[in-house]
Order: sequence, then C-alpha cells, then structure tokens
Amino acid sequence: MSPLDVFEKPSRTSSGEEPLEILRREHAIIQKHISELDEMTYSVSVNVRDFSFLFKEVLKFLEAHEEKEELMIEALAEAGVEIPVDNLKLKHGEIKEKSDAVLKALDGGNEEEIRSVLYGVCAELVDRIKAHVLAEEHVFDKIDWGKLDKKTLDRIKLLQIVPSRKLL
Ligand SMILES: [Fe+2]
Ligand SMILES: [Fe+2]
Repeated sequence: MSPLDVFEKPSRTSSGEEPLEILRREHAIIQKHISELDEMTYSVSVNVRDFSFLFKEVLKFLEAHEEKEELMIEALAEAGVEIPVDNLKLKHGEIKEKSDAVLKALDGGNEEEIRSVLYGVCAELVDRIKAHVLAEEHVFDKIDWGKLDKKTLDRIKLLQIVPSRKLL
C-alpha cells in the first residue's frame, strides 16, 4: 500500500463523491421542493402559477432521478447486491394518475377545484414521495459501498450524469 492510498478511499468515485452522497443530495432536493409544495397547499391563497411551475419541475426532476435509480439498482444487482426492489418501486402509474389530476385542475383554473385537489390528491402524492425517499435511504444505507468494485462504482457514477439541473 503506497502512502498515497490513504487519500484514495475505494468507495469514492473519481469526482470524489460517493454514490450515496449523490443520492442523498438528490433526495434532499426532492424533499425540499416537495415540502415547499406542501407548504404552498396550506397557505391561504395559492399562487397557481408558482405552484404549477414548481410542481412540474419537481415531477421532471423526480422522473430523471427515478430513471437513474432504476439503472443503478440494475448495476448493483449485476454486481451481486440484492435490493428489495418491490418495496422501492415508485409505481409510475400511481404517480402519473395523481399528478395528472393535479395538473388538470391547475390548468382548468377553477379555484375551488384547485383547492380541493391540492388538499386531497396532491397531499397524498407529497406523502407518497416523502415515504418513498425515506424507504430508499434506509435500504441504500445498508449497502457496503466500500466493497463495490471500481467498474460498478464508475457505472453508477455515469448514471448520475443527466440533464436535470434546473433544481440544483
Ligand atoms: Fe426512487
Ligand atoms: Fe430516490
């Protein structure tokens, strides 16, 4: 072992960031914006334009994040790390159905309808996403990232590079 090896932790990707740190950072972004949406739904008068903009951005970010995550889970499985995928899948149909209902009400512009959707479907969606992120962190925390081979870590790092930086 060369003296320099102590500076090169094997669990770190070449950018110096561990996959878990990257995931956590994205999760923090999702949780922050989801909480903002949550707060907006409880304010006396919702600015529909602001809400609509943030809602769409969060959905886009979440979609890109989920895509990367699914690929990462595949890469981990190939490296022999088993993940209880069924518990973690954020069911696309479920999210889409709820978000479509929110978008429809927002676009419709009827204040009463918007309010009812925000208190109902949107609040459920927010809770669902929050719970999903927490469940994932719990599972990802248990992975021994330091034991993964460099090839797998590099693949996972590559999967993080997608054009979804608007919320960063
Ligand atoms: Fe996820
Ligand atoms: Fe996630």
